[in-house]
Amino acid sequence: MRVLGIETSCDETGVAIFDAGEGLLAHALHSQVELHAAYGGVVPELASRDHVRKVLPLIRQLLADAGIQAASLDGLAYTSGPGLVGALLVGASVGRSLAWSWGIPAVAVHHMEGHLLAPMLEHEAPPFPFIAMLVSGGHTQLVEVEGIGRYQLLGDSLDDAAGEAFDKTAKLLGLPYPGGPELARLAEQGDASRYRFPRPMTDRPGLDFSFSGLKTFALNTMQDADKQEGGTASRQTRADIARAFEEAVVDTLSIKCRRAVRQSGIKTLVMAGGVSANRRLRLRIDEMMSKEGGAAYYPRSEFCTDNGAMIAYAGCQRLLAGEAEALRFSVQPRWSMEDLAIRA
Ligand code: KG4
Ligand code: ZN
Repeated sequence: MRVLGIETSCDETGVAIFDAGEGLLAHALHSQVELHAAYGGVVPELASRDHVRKVLPLIRQLLADAGIQAASLDGLAYTSGPGLVGALLVGASVGRSLAWSWGIPAVAVHHMEGHLLAPMLEHEAPPFPFIAMLVSGGHTQLVEVEGIGRYQLLGDSLDDAAGEAFDKTAKLLGLPYPGGPELARLAEQGDASRYRFPRPMTDRPGLDFSFSGLKTFALNTMQDADKQEGGTASRQTRADIARAFEEAVVDTLSIKCRRAVRQSGIKTLVMAGGVSANRRLRLRIDEMMSKEGGAAYYPRSEFCTDNGAMIAYAGCQRLLAGEAEALRFSVQPRWSMEDLAIRA
Protein backbone atom coordinates (compact mmCIF):
# COMPACT_ATOMS: atom_id res chain seq x y z
CA MET A 1 0.00 0.00 0.00
CA ARG A 2 1.55 3.26 -1.21
CA VAL A 3 -0.20 6.52 -0.29
CA LEU A 4 0.19 10.15 -1.30
CA GLY A 5 -0.60 12.52 1.60
CA ILE A 6 -1.66 16.15 1.23
CA GLU A 7 -1.73 18.66 4.10
CA THR A 8 -3.22 22.15 3.61
CA SER A 9 -5.03 22.91 6.87
CA CYS A 10 -3.19 26.12 7.78
CA ASP A 11 -0.05 27.89 6.54
CA GLU A 12 2.00 24.97 5.23
CA THR A 13 1.52 23.02 1.99
CA GLY A 14 2.88 19.54 2.76
CA VAL A 15 2.97 16.47 0.49
CA ALA A 16 4.53 13.05 1.02
CA ILE A 17 4.49 9.42 -0.08
CA PHE A 18 4.36 6.68 2.53
CA ASP A 19 4.68 3.01 1.61
CA ALA A 20 3.50 0.40 4.13
CA GLY A 21 6.38 -1.89 3.23
CA GLU A 22 9.19 0.57 2.53
CA GLY A 23 8.32 3.45 4.87
CA LEU A 24 8.48 7.12 4.01
CA LEU A 25 9.63 7.48 0.40
CA ALA A 26 9.52 11.23 -0.11
CA HIS A 27 8.20 14.42 1.39
CA ALA A 28 8.17 18.12 0.48
CA LEU A 29 6.96 21.23 2.23
CA HIS A 30 6.22 24.78 1.20
CA SER A 31 5.97 27.18 4.13
CA GLN A 32 3.91 30.38 3.92
CA VAL A 33 5.83 32.11 6.72
CA GLU A 34 7.09 34.92 4.47
CA LEU A 35 3.62 35.51 3.05
CA HIS A 36 2.02 36.07 6.47
CA ALA A 37 4.96 37.70 8.28
CA ALA A 38 3.98 41.22 7.21
CA TYR A 39 0.58 40.76 8.91
CA GLY A 40 1.93 39.27 12.15
CA GLY A 41 -0.16 36.10 11.77
CA VAL A 42 -1.93 33.81 9.30
CA VAL A 43 -4.35 35.55 6.90
CA PRO A 44 -6.81 32.76 5.94
CA GLU A 45 -7.67 34.02 2.45
CA LEU A 46 -3.99 34.43 1.52
CA ALA A 47 -3.32 30.94 2.90
CA SER A 48 -6.01 29.38 0.66
CA ARG A 49 -4.78 31.19 -2.45
CA ASP A 50 -1.21 30.13 -1.83
CA HIS A 51 -2.23 26.47 -1.37
CA VAL A 52 -4.04 26.71 -4.74
CA ARG A 53 -0.84 28.00 -6.35
CA LYS A 54 1.53 25.51 -4.72
CA VAL A 55 -0.14 22.17 -4.18
CA LEU A 56 -0.10 20.70 -7.72
CA PRO A 57 3.45 21.84 -8.62
CA LEU A 58 4.64 20.48 -5.25
CA ILE A 59 3.04 17.07 -5.94
CA ARG A 60 4.52 16.99 -9.44
CA GLN A 61 7.96 17.87 -8.10
CA LEU A 62 7.68 15.28 -5.30
CA LEU A 63 6.87 12.48 -7.75
CA ALA A 64 9.60 13.57 -10.18
CA ASP A 65 12.33 13.96 -7.52
CA ALA A 66 11.51 10.56 -6.00
CA GLY A 67 11.21 8.92 -9.43
CA ILE A 68 7.76 7.62 -8.53
CA GLN A 69 4.99 7.17 -11.09
CA ALA A 70 1.47 8.18 -10.10
CA ALA A 71 0.41 4.74 -11.39
CA SER A 72 2.27 3.09 -8.50
CA LEU A 73 0.09 4.86 -5.90
CA ASP A 74 -2.62 2.79 -4.18
CA GLY A 75 -4.35 5.55 -2.27
CA LEU A 76 -4.49 9.21 -1.43
CA ALA A 77 -4.96 10.92 1.95
CA TYR A 78 -5.80 14.55 2.57
CA THR A 79 -6.40 16.61 5.72
CA SER A 80 -10.11 17.36 5.98
CA GLY A 81 -10.08 19.09 9.38
CA PRO A 82 -9.71 20.72 11.80
CA GLY A 83 -8.27 23.88 10.29
CA LEU A 84 -9.05 26.91 8.13
CA VAL A 85 -12.02 26.06 5.94
CA GLY A 86 -10.72 27.62 2.69
CA ALA A 87 -7.29 26.05 3.14
CA LEU A 88 -8.81 22.63 3.89
CA LEU A 89 -11.01 22.85 0.79
CA VAL A 90 -7.94 23.19 -1.45
CA GLY A 91 -6.33 19.95 -0.25
CA ALA A 92 -9.66 18.12 -0.15
CA SER A 93 -10.78 19.08 -3.65
CA VAL A 94 -7.37 18.54 -5.26
CA GLY A 95 -6.86 15.26 -3.37
CA ARG A 96 -10.32 13.90 -4.17
CA SER A 97 -9.99 14.86 -7.84
CA LEU A 98 -6.52 13.34 -8.27
CA ALA A 99 -7.69 10.11 -6.62
CA TRP A 100 -10.65 9.95 -8.99
CA SER A 101 -8.53 10.59 -12.07
CA TRP A 102 -5.95 8.01 -10.97
CA GLY A 103 -8.66 5.47 -10.06
CA ILE A 104 -7.48 5.03 -6.46
CA PRO A 105 -9.32 5.39 -3.13
CA ALA A 106 -9.08 8.61 -1.14
CA VAL A 107 -9.36 9.00 2.59
CA ALA A 108 -10.01 12.05 4.78
CA VAL A 109 -7.55 12.45 7.64
CA HIS A 110 -7.96 14.32 10.94
CA HIS A 111 -5.05 16.76 11.28
CA MET A 112 -4.50 15.97 14.97
CA GLU A 113 -4.52 12.21 14.28
CA GLY A 114 -1.73 12.99 11.83
CA HIS A 115 0.26 14.76 14.55
CA LEU A 116 -0.48 11.99 17.03
CA LEU A 117 0.83 9.29 14.69
CA ALA A 118 3.87 11.27 13.45
CA PRO A 119 6.27 9.51 15.90
CA MET A 120 5.36 6.25 14.08
CA LEU A 121 7.53 7.47 11.21
CA GLU A 122 10.64 7.25 13.39
CA HIS A 123 13.01 4.32 13.61
CA GLU A 124 11.93 3.62 17.18
CA ALA A 125 8.13 3.89 17.08
CA PRO A 126 6.09 4.00 20.30
CA PRO A 127 4.17 0.81 21.20
CA PHE A 128 0.38 0.91 21.82
CA PRO A 129 -1.19 1.80 24.18
CA PHE A 130 0.24 5.24 24.86
CA ILE A 131 -0.67 8.63 26.24
CA ALA A 132 -0.37 11.38 23.66
CA MET A 133 0.20 14.99 24.50
CA LEU A 134 -0.74 17.09 21.46
CA VAL A 135 0.60 20.62 21.62
CA SER A 136 0.03 22.75 18.54
CA GLY A 137 -1.10 26.23 17.57
CA GLY A 138 -4.76 25.29 17.89
CA HIS A 139 -4.81 22.39 20.36
CA THR A 140 -3.49 21.27 23.73
CA GLN A 141 -4.85 17.79 24.35
CA LEU A 142 -4.08 14.68 26.34
CA VAL A 143 -5.34 11.56 24.60
CA GLU A 144 -5.29 7.90 25.60
CA VAL A 145 -4.45 5.93 22.47
CA GLU A 146 -5.26 2.21 22.30
CA GLY A 147 -4.67 1.86 18.57
CA ILE A 148 -5.36 3.58 15.26
CA GLY A 149 -8.75 5.29 15.54
CA ARG A 150 -9.20 4.39 19.21
CA TYR A 151 -8.75 7.66 21.03
CA GLN A 152 -10.10 8.82 24.36
CA LEU A 153 -9.76 12.49 25.15
CA LEU A 154 -8.44 12.92 28.70
CA GLY A 155 -7.83 16.67 28.75
CA ASP A 156 -8.26 19.71 26.52
CA SER A 157 -7.52 23.42 26.44
CA LEU A 158 -10.32 25.57 27.84
CA ASP A 159 -9.04 28.71 26.10
CA ASP A 160 -5.75 29.44 24.28
CA ALA A 161 -3.73 26.44 23.10
CA ALA A 162 -0.08 26.23 24.22
CA GLY A 163 1.22 27.27 20.77
CA GLU A 164 -1.26 30.14 20.61
CA ALA A 165 -0.04 31.34 24.04
CA PHE A 166 3.56 31.17 22.77
CA ASP A 167 2.61 33.15 19.65
CA LYS A 168 0.60 35.83 21.50
CA THR A 169 3.25 36.30 24.20
CA ALA A 170 5.95 36.50 21.52
CA LYS A 171 3.97 39.27 19.81
CA LEU A 172 3.75 41.36 22.95
CA LEU A 173 7.49 40.88 23.49
CA GLY A 174 7.92 42.45 20.06
CA LEU A 175 9.01 39.25 18.30
CA PRO A 176 8.08 38.50 14.67
CA TYR A 177 5.62 35.79 13.53
CA PRO A 178 5.82 32.82 13.92
CA GLY A 179 6.38 33.61 17.56
CA GLY A 180 6.85 30.23 19.27
CA PRO A 181 10.35 29.38 18.02
CA GLU A 182 11.42 33.07 18.28
CA LEU A 183 10.32 33.22 21.91
CA ALA A 184 12.17 29.97 22.65
CA ARG A 185 15.32 31.45 21.08
CA LEU A 186 15.08 34.65 23.15
CA ALA A 187 14.39 32.61 26.31
CA GLU A 188 17.78 30.91 25.89
CA GLN A 189 19.40 34.19 26.99
CA GLY A 190 16.98 34.69 29.89
CA ASP A 191 17.51 34.28 33.62
CA ALA A 192 14.96 31.74 34.91
CA SER A 193 15.09 33.05 38.49
CA ARG A 194 14.12 36.69 37.86
CA TYR A 195 10.35 36.26 37.33
CA ARG A 196 7.96 33.53 38.36
CA PHE A 197 4.82 32.92 36.32
CA PRO A 198 1.82 30.85 37.57
CA ARG A 199 1.34 27.18 36.57
CA PRO A 200 -2.35 27.38 35.56
CA MET A 201 -4.76 24.65 36.76
CA THR A 202 -2.04 22.50 38.35
CA ASP A 203 -3.34 23.10 41.89
CA ARG A 204 -6.61 21.26 41.26
CA PRO A 205 -7.40 17.80 39.91
CA GLY A 206 -8.10 17.21 36.22
CA LEU A 207 -6.24 17.19 32.94
CA ASP A 208 -7.58 20.31 31.22
CA PHE A 209 -5.42 23.31 30.36
CA SER A 210 -5.83 27.08 30.42
CA PHE A 211 -3.02 29.22 29.02
CA SER A 212 -4.75 32.55 28.33
CA GLY A 213 -3.93 33.86 31.82
CA LEU A 214 -0.19 33.45 31.17
CA LYS A 215 -0.35 35.86 28.25
CA THR A 216 -2.05 38.46 30.49
CA PHE A 217 0.55 37.81 33.19
CA ALA A 218 3.28 38.39 30.62
CA LEU A 219 1.60 41.62 29.47
CA ASN A 220 1.41 42.98 33.02
CA THR A 221 5.01 41.97 33.75
CA MET A 222 6.11 43.64 30.52
CA GLN A 223 4.22 46.89 31.29
CA ASP A 224 5.69 47.05 34.82
CA ALA A 225 9.18 46.48 33.41
CA ASP A 226 8.64 49.15 30.73
CA LYS A 227 7.72 51.66 33.46
CA GLN A 228 10.64 50.70 35.71
CA GLU A 229 13.09 50.93 32.84
CA GLY A 230 12.01 54.35 31.67
CA GLY A 231 9.58 53.46 28.86
CA THR A 232 10.99 50.39 27.12
CA ALA A 233 12.20 47.24 28.84
CA SER A 234 15.70 46.12 27.84
CA ARG A 235 16.36 43.08 25.67
CA GLN A 236 17.66 41.25 28.76
CA THR A 237 14.41 41.94 30.63
CA ARG A 238 12.39 40.65 27.68
CA ALA A 239 14.57 37.54 27.56
CA ASP A 240 13.96 37.01 31.30
CA ILE A 241 10.19 37.32 30.76
CA ALA A 242 10.35 34.92 27.79
CA ARG A 243 12.28 32.42 29.92
CA ALA A 244 9.79 32.68 32.83
CA PHE A 245 6.88 32.21 30.41
CA GLU A 246 8.47 29.19 28.73
CA GLU A 247 9.34 27.69 32.11
CA ALA A 248 5.69 28.03 33.22
CA VAL A 249 4.31 26.35 30.07
CA VAL A 250 6.90 23.56 30.18
CA ASP A 251 6.27 22.92 33.87
CA THR A 252 2.48 22.93 33.46
CA LEU A 253 2.58 20.51 30.49
CA SER A 254 4.98 18.21 32.33
CA ILE A 255 2.80 18.16 35.48
CA LYS A 256 -0.30 17.28 33.43
CA CYS A 257 1.53 14.56 31.48
CA ARG A 258 2.76 13.01 34.72
CA ARG A 259 -0.78 13.09 36.08
CA ALA A 260 -2.15 11.36 32.94
CA VAL A 261 0.59 8.71 33.09
CA ARG A 262 -0.08 8.00 36.78
CA GLN A 263 -3.87 7.95 36.38
CA SER A 264 -3.83 5.62 33.38
CA GLY A 265 -0.91 3.43 34.44
CA ILE A 266 0.39 3.74 30.83
CA LYS A 267 4.12 4.46 30.84
CA THR A 268 4.58 5.33 27.19
CA LEU A 269 4.17 8.99 26.33
CA VAL A 270 4.05 10.53 22.88
CA MET A 271 4.41 14.25 22.42
CA ALA A 272 3.63 15.81 19.05
CA GLY A 273 2.48 19.04 17.38
CA GLY A 274 4.43 22.25 16.76
CA VAL A 275 5.25 23.04 20.40
CA SER A 276 6.81 19.57 20.84
CA ALA A 277 9.76 20.96 18.85
CA ASN A 278 10.58 23.03 21.95
CA ARG A 279 13.94 21.88 23.32
CA ARG A 280 13.29 22.66 26.99
CA LEU A 281 9.93 20.93 26.87
CA ARG A 282 11.53 17.75 25.50
CA LEU A 283 14.26 17.79 28.15
CA ARG A 284 11.69 18.23 30.94
CA ILE A 285 9.39 15.50 29.59
CA ASP A 286 12.32 13.07 29.17
CA GLU A 287 13.42 13.74 32.74
CA MET A 288 9.88 13.31 34.10
CA MET A 289 9.23 10.07 32.14
CA SER A 290 12.50 8.50 33.23
CA LYS A 291 11.60 9.25 36.87
CA GLU A 292 8.22 7.55 36.23
CA GLY A 293 10.04 4.51 34.84
CA GLY A 294 8.64 5.05 31.35
CA ALA A 295 9.73 6.53 28.02
CA ALA A 296 8.81 9.49 25.84
CA TYR A 297 8.64 9.49 22.03
CA TYR A 298 8.65 12.44 19.64
CA PRO A 299 8.61 12.99 15.91
CA ARG A 300 11.84 14.39 14.39
CA SER A 301 11.76 18.22 14.58
CA GLU A 302 10.57 18.80 11.00
CA PHE A 303 7.58 16.49 11.59
CA CYS A 304 6.56 18.22 14.85
CA THR A 305 5.09 21.07 12.84
CA ASP A 306 2.66 20.57 9.95
CA ASN A 307 3.78 18.23 7.17
CA GLY A 308 2.46 15.82 4.55
CA ALA A 309 4.27 12.74 5.91
CA MET A 310 2.03 12.40 8.96
CA ILE A 311 -1.08 12.63 6.76
CA ALA A 312 0.25 10.01 4.31
CA TYR A 313 1.04 7.71 7.27
CA ALA A 314 -2.35 8.14 8.97
CA GLY A 315 -4.18 7.73 5.65
CA CYS A 316 -2.22 4.57 4.83
CA GLN A 317 -3.19 2.99 8.18
CA ARG A 318 -6.86 3.85 7.59
CA LEU A 319 -6.85 2.45 4.05
CA LEU A 320 -5.13 -0.72 5.29
CA ALA A 321 -7.86 -1.04 7.93
CA GLY A 322 -10.44 -0.99 5.11
CA GLU A 323 -11.64 2.57 5.34
CA ALA A 324 -13.06 3.85 2.08
CA GLU A 325 -14.73 7.07 1.06
CA ALA A 326 -17.54 7.71 -1.39
CA LEU A 327 -17.04 10.01 -4.40
CA ARG A 328 -17.72 13.18 -2.46
CA PHE A 329 -15.90 15.16 0.14
CA SER A 330 -16.50 17.61 2.92
CA VAL A 331 -14.20 19.42 5.33
CA GLN A 332 -14.67 19.95 9.05
CA PRO A 333 -13.13 23.13 10.49
CA ARG A 334 -14.03 21.71 13.93
CA TRP A 335 -13.80 17.98 14.53
CA SER A 336 -13.58 15.86 17.70
CA MET A 337 -10.85 13.22 17.80
CA GLU A 338 -13.19 10.84 19.63
CA ASP A 339 -15.20 10.52 16.43
CA LEU A 340 -12.50 8.61 14.56
CA ALA A 341 -13.46 4.93 14.65
CA ILE A 342 -12.46 3.26 11.34
CA ARG A 343 -15.36 3.36 8.86
CA ALA A 344 -14.85 0.34 6.61
O1 KG4 B 1 1.43 21.82 14.69
P1 KG4 B 1 1.69 23.17 14.16
O2 KG4 B 1 2.73 23.34 13.09
O3 KG4 B 1 0.39 23.80 13.58
C1 KG4 B 1 -0.87 23.59 14.15
O4 KG4 B 1 -1.44 22.49 13.93
O5 KG4 B 1 -1.31 24.50 14.87
O6 KG4 B 1 2.06 24.08 15.42
C2 KG4 B 1 2.40 25.42 15.29
C3 KG4 B 1 2.63 26.00 16.67
C4 KG4 B 1 2.80 27.51 16.65
O7 KG4 B 1 1.99 28.07 17.66
C5 KG4 B 1 4.28 27.69 16.92
O8 KG4 B 1 4.58 28.91 17.54
C6 KG4 B 1 4.57 26.52 17.83
O9 KG4 B 1 3.83 25.46 17.26
N1 KG4 B 1 6.01 26.18 17.90
C7 KG4 B 1 6.77 26.30 19.01
C8 KG4 B 1 8.09 25.90 18.65
N2 KG4 B 1 8.07 25.55 17.32
C9 KG4 B 1 6.79 25.72 16.89
N3 KG4 B 1 6.46 26.71 20.25
C10 KG4 B 1 7.45 26.72 21.16
N4 KG4 B 1 8.73 26.36 20.91
C11 KG4 B 1 9.09 25.95 19.66
N5 KG4 B 1 10.35 25.60 19.43
ZN1 ZN C 1 -0.65 21.06 13.12
